[in-house]
Amino acid sequence: MAVAKQSEIAPAEGRLGVLLVGLGAVSTTFIAGVEAIKKGFAQPIGSLTQMGTIRLGKRTENRVPLIKDFVPLAQLKDMVFGAWDIFPDSAYDAALNAGVLEKELLGQLKVPLRKIKPMKAVFDQTYVKRLSGTNVKTGKNKFELAQQLIDEIAEWKRKNKCSRLVMIWAASTEIFLKPHAVHKTLDSFEQAMRDNHKAIAPSMIYAYAALKSGIPFANGAPNLTVDIPALMSLADKNKLAICGKDFKTGQTLMKTIIAPGLKSRMLGLHGWYSTNILGNRDGEVLDDPDSFKTKEESKLSVLEYILQPEVYPALYKDFSHVVRINYYPPRGDNKEGWDNIDIFGWLGYPMQIKIDFLCRDSILAAPIVLDLALFLDLAQRAGMKGVQEWLSFYFKSPQTAPGLYPEHDIFIQLMKLKNTLRHLRGEDLITHLGLEYYD
Ligand SMILES: NC(=O)c1ccc[n+]([C@@H]2O[C@H](COP(=O)([O-])OP(=O)(O)OC[C@H]3O[C@@H](n4cnc5c(N)ncnc54)[C@H](O)[C@@H]3O)[C@@H](O)[C@H]2O)c1
Repeated sequence: MAVAKQSEIAPAEGRLGVLLVGLGAVSTTFIAGVEAIKKGFAQPIGSLTQMGTIRLGKRTENRVPLIKDFVPLAQLKDMVFGAWDIFPDSAYDAALNAGVLEKELLGQLKVPLRKIKPMKAVFDQTYVKRLSGTNVKTGKNKFELAQQLIDEIAEWKRKNKCSRLVMIWAASTEIFLKPHAVHKTLDSFEQAMRDNHKAIAPSMIYAYAALKSGIPFANGAPNLTVDIPALMSLADKNKLAICGKDFKTGQTLMKTIIAPGLKSRMLGLHGWYSTNILGNRDGEVLDDPDSFKTKEESKLSVLEYILQPEVYPALYKDFSHVVRINYYPPRGDNKEGWDNIDIFGWLGYPMQIKIDFLCRDSILAAPIVLDLALFLDLAQRAGMKGVQEWLSFYFKSPQTAPGLYPEHDIFIQLMKLKNTLRHLRGEDLITHLGLEYYD
């Protein structure tokens, strides 16, 4: 990850276009939230870029600016939104349909939300079995579909008078795909698109179109998407920031908060059983075993990396980790996640922790989308290219350089994020050593 100095961060001038793939629960909750905040109806709760502060220098210096005052982020008033979806509903109708936000609030936001009509999607039911829609592009092959996206993006940018764009995948989870030989180089990837190869999923076509158009890309779902050598090298070549995968919300957020705490006290783990009931469209898509497999892989890896059984065999060898998601329509977007955690302490005595998280998935995801849009745009203006590991904080399955294991501990992730911002602005990194106070 190449990093530039403070003086090299270009100012956030003009409008920032946020292109969302998928105009479902997460995207509409995000857009409606930003519009509500712009109108002064709401506060940006859950957003680090808007509400978070950053300590600078020694604790005795009392320098604690807001992050948005410390680094030159785009302002919410300068953000505009575009989207693709397989359903033609406007953001207003899609938000009503998602059922996350109250009708009364949406009614107050009708004007801006109605204006957002989704562009025709690049979609193939092979990759999301539970969905079918009509608002879909047609083309000779996957390469031609990518060219259509590239032209459409250029036209959208011009029409919306944007100076910069970012693209975020907030569309349904695709089926589990393993890295394939055609993903290795840009040439083999482009040839595979021309050949309509099965290993090229729609999400990869969007990511390719973004990177070809000079736009940074974030992946909010667990699909492989931009986490393949061909697209990583394209990002490098075109000096573009990329990050992923899978927004860290709900149960995994809790896991990455609690597991580091248990480990810090050297408490052992026999098992962690997690189950969810979820009734939104995401839950319906994840009811398909192939889409669930993609999600499961993303959710399972977290504990292994945090607890490091190979370093602490007496505490974490062979713990059992089970994750389930059950589609249960009555709950809509209001997921309920249960965790049963079997731990052990001094002399091996067992204890249990039970968590019942009555969470709202899209309410947790929306501020992540906002922060990612703003930080990706910042990274781009700061000349940071390739995988943005400092944005791991936002992901269940953080994308890293090949061969490097991901950091899942949310507290380390936050420290990494803030130190990256300090580094960008030429401030001292904070190590928490603190000996200087006692000299
Ligand atoms: N807290 C969260 O909600 C959360 C957390 C982590 C990850 N995610 C992921 O974010 C994504 C969005 O979640 P959601 O709750 O908004 O789901 P959703 O089903 O409400 O919305 C997804 C939308 O994507 C559309 N879509 C599917 N394939 C498409 C394509 N190829 N092109 C354009 N549009 C397409 C669907 O029609 C749908 O409207 C899912 O993949 C989900 O797994 C969500």
